[in-house]
Amino acid sequence: MTNDMTAGSPASDTSSPADGYVGDPAVRAEWDNRYADRQQLWSGLPNGALVAEVAGLAPGRVLDVGCGEGADAVWLARGGWDVTALEVSGVALERAAGHARDAGLTVHWVHAALTEAALPPASFDLVSAQYPALLRTPDAAAERALLAAVAPGGVLLLVHHAGMDTQQAQEGDFDPADYVWPSMVAELLDDDWEVEVDEERPRVAPEGGAGAHHANDVVLRARRLR
Ligand SMILES: C[S@@+](CC[C@H](N)C(=O)[O-])C[C@H]1O[C@@H](n2cnc3c(N)ncnc32)[C@H](O)[C@@H]1O
Repeated sequence: MTNDMTAGSPASDTSSPADGYVGDPAVRAEWDNRYADRQQLWSGLPNGALVAEVAGLAPGRVLDVGCGEGADAVWLARGGWDVTALEVSGVALERAAGHARDAGLTVHWVHAALTEAALPPASFDLVSAQYPALLRTPDAAAERALLAAVAPGGVLLLVHHAGMDTQQAQEGDFDPADYVWPSMVAELLDDDWEVEVDEERPRVAPEGGAGAHHANDVVLRARRLR
């Protein structure tokens, strides 16, 4: 990997992925703080729904949206995928890049918010978003960015914790109404898409890590026909 991270360019490999961030600094700071609070936030293992859904797919170009500490990205790269992994937190990306380096694997790291990244349109055989914390906007920019990245014939795999979209706002900062949930993306799927999976099912959760208490997933898997 090199050090020359071009902001938002998925073609950029870097050993210092915290440079050149494109996106809202407040979102970056919020997630950097969350990651910096702990040496390791997530389990370090790939997400169960990803492992299950990717089983039947031939490796190609994959975009991991909100890759966190990189367990999915590293697992995909090990499986022969050409991985672009995008994340707002530089703290998380540094950890992710370290894991890939330790494993001798190449991943293209993008330090950007999904909607700000200059991603090549319609060019990924798989767009994987596992529990992404994407802020909702009136123009559905994040939902559209997820769809726009998928190549014709490719698959969007969006996995989230079940029931979040109907939860009431809790004390503190988190209001579910602020975020994008799979049902919002499903609503945008037109005739160009075939829904292959849209269901709630028990989560195959990696041991340990924050979020291990969530029991069920919502899995949306849609194939772009043209
Ligand atoms: C709940 S974590 C999931 C991380 C990882 N996918 C996993 O399953 O372990 C959500 C991730 O989304 C990232 N994130 C938040 N807003 C984002 C955005 N606009 N674009 C890309 N990533 C974002 C956060 O920094 C965080 O790492």
